[in-house]
Amino acid sequence: MAATLLPTLSPPVSRAAAFLLLRAPPKPLRTHHHLFRSLLSSASSPSTPATLRSLAPMASAATPDRRDLLMLGIETSCDDTAAAVVRGDGEILSQVVSSQADLLVKYGGVAPKMAEEAHSLAIDQVVQKALDDAHVSESDLSAVAVTVGPGLSLCLRVGVHKARTIAKAFGLPIVGVHHMEAHALVSRLVNKGLDFPFLALLISGGHNLLILAHNLGDYVQLGTTVDDAIGEAYDKSARWLGLDIRKGGGPALEELALEGDPNAIKFRVPMRQHKDCNFSYAGLKTQVRLAIESRNLRCTDGIPISSATAEDRQLRADIAASFQRVAVLHLEERCQRAVEWALKMKPSINNFVVSGGVASNQYVRTRLNYIAEKNGLQLVSPPPSLCTDNGVMIAWTGIEHFVAGRFDDPPAADEPDDMQYDLRPRWPLGEEYSEGRSVSRSMKTARIHPSLTSMIQGSLHK
Ligand code: KG4
Ligand code: ZN
Repeated sequence: MAATLLPTLSPPVSRAAAFLLLRAPPKPLRTHHHLFRSLLSSASSPSTPATLRSLAPMASAATPDRRDLLMLGIETSCDDTAAAVVRGDGEILSQVVSSQADLLVKYGGVAPKMAEEAHSLAIDQVVQKALDDAHVSESDLSAVAVTVGPGLSLCLRVGVHKARTIAKAFGLPIVGVHHMEAHALVSRLVNKGLDFPFLALLISGGHNLLILAHNLGDYVQLGTTVDDAIGEAYDKSARWLGLDIRKGGGPALEELALEGDPNAIKFRVPMRQHKDCNFSYAGLKTQVRLAIESRNLRCTDGIPISSATAEDRQLRADIAASFQRVAVLHLEERCQRAVEWALKMKPSINNFVVSGGVASNQYVRTRLNYIAEKNGLQLVSPPPSLCTDNGVMIAWTGIEHFVAGRFDDPPAADEPDDMQYDLRPRWPLGEEYSEGRSVSRSMKTARIHPSLTSMIQGSLHK
């Protein structure tokens, strides 16, 4: 079967209006489709060129039309199977997450084949529960949003397949979502006054991004990691320290760090000689491992912290606290520089968004709030349940793009089940800011997708 595109993020906005105006609905149009038909057709009439900017006023969360929009969001890019139903005005009707904690404990990380299997086993139930909890059925939906990248192809495929199956059966448009954009944009659901432009730090298990968000779908990457993300460093350190990681390595380490002395061990702060906004956590990870080994702690022999002596526990807590202090100090230093760069480019910036799984860490939030305040910015950080992977952020990002007219037609009725989807496992959010370019990463740019921002800009200029 030939590869087909999932062109969600490439069609010009006028295509969206054409879709809603011309398509013969598979069954009587639902009320909200009528509302969106008129909304989009007026937005893209010849006298008002349909740009993101011209659509922005209509995207205001308070308009009654938006409330009638009902989006199902599906997320399977990594190890959580998640779904949610969200109204166009941001009301969360349901949120379901099934995580693969047991697999993480067993394999010490995400094993793609196992993760795919776990997603396949969970996806139907997770989506059904999201619909049931929201007291809606598929036929009430306006569209389906699903993560198409970045992430593990095998895992992404499970979510995309489910989304397309529903969309095909019920004649629903599909919005393909960028996972990291969703981490950033969910802050606009939480904080309705959060307008573009803003600065965002996105910190998770696989990503460490500093971005300047100019507008919806228009991002400049100020910094990224040259090796590991901070979440990976938390997860591995927690494992090596023998912590109970069933609820995640990050939360376990954060908890133990409360008992430790953050100045006990002098770990080196990464990349101080590089005057940019990039990150590196591989070296800090190694420093933690060496600290554990040199102190003869029995955790690497499989002795869990629950069986450790009081003295051993204290040492492990000191390592945890010292690691956390330096890991977050590295964030602080890069964020301070990024704030300076961002304000130079966009003096109107008022907000500093911090999101992604690691942003649920209280110490991280407190330290970054200090950076924000020092620079006269407001820190916006979603509640922990919306920082870690979830379906709400996918549904909400789907809503933002749907309103801007970017979505795919419903799949053809004869679309085969073994279709090869256009998945984007390595998909940057935006182009790199020139001062932030990292030479050491040039080796890793092979087989990378064009960035979300360049795809959208390319479609607008067609
Ligand atoms: O965003 P997320 O749920 O998934 C990815 O996109 O990767 O982030 C997961 C990461 C994991 O590394 C997890 O350990 C970390 O976020 N994390 C934390 C905390 N809660 C989750 N790290 C530090 N402290 C926490 N409280
Ligand atoms: Zn994530």
